Amino acid sequence: MKDHLTIVRHPLVQHKLTLMRDKRTSTAVFRQLLREISQLLAYEVTYELPMTTQTIETPLQEMDAPVLAGRKLALISILRAGNGLLDGMLELIPSARVGFVGLYRDEETLKPVQYYFKVPEQLGKRLSIVVDPMLATGNSSAAAVDLIKQAGAKDIRFLCLLAVPEGVARMKDAHPDVPIVTAALDDRLNELGYILPGLGDAGDRMFGTK
Ligand code: URA
Repeated sequence: MKDHLTIVRHPLVQHKLTLMRDKRTSTAVFRQLLREISQLLAYEVTYELPMTTQTIETPLQEMDAPVLAGRKLALISILRAGNGLLDGMLELIPSARVGFVGLYRDEETLKPVQYYFKVPEQLGKRLSIVVDPMLATGNSSAAAVDLIKQAGAKDIRFLCLLAVPEGVARMKDAHPDVPIVTAALDDRLNELGYILPGLGDAGDRMFGTK
């Protein structure tokens, strides 16, 4: 992908995002919308995948038909909210390999601390798409990308639902080689690190924990 930041302005994405932002939207509908929107975002983030051809026979004749080239993609979910994006993406890319990165924020240092890490083999030979709905401070996203680079990943993209300029700048500083795809670039962070206008806590809204 050429651009460091791609905003997916497709009308269906924007309409679904507005419904997700609305605080009256129920957990069940929020989850369904996230599933739908993640498929539309998956379409965008995989737009320029390398292709090759395979010889097949249609009922009428032989042809060289286009297929995806290379190893299966790796989808890397940042727990726990990343799983909401992951589910929909897996419906579109069912053969993708899946990894998980668990990070929490240390209350004293405010730095992300890893509590879980499991990723597919041979990350260096795959495209890795890191998924997390909210690119807020960018600290956990940058740390997750650090970890998968240490595990060998080289070709990486980051997919989120909402981003703010602070988070985009943090990622660009730490990982200028990682393009970001998002449905919207919101205004700013509040003093608690929430995106404004945002949609609230993505994990709480998708899992009904608040
Ligand atoms: N994480 C969320 O779930 N929401 C925000 O607004 C910021 C980070």
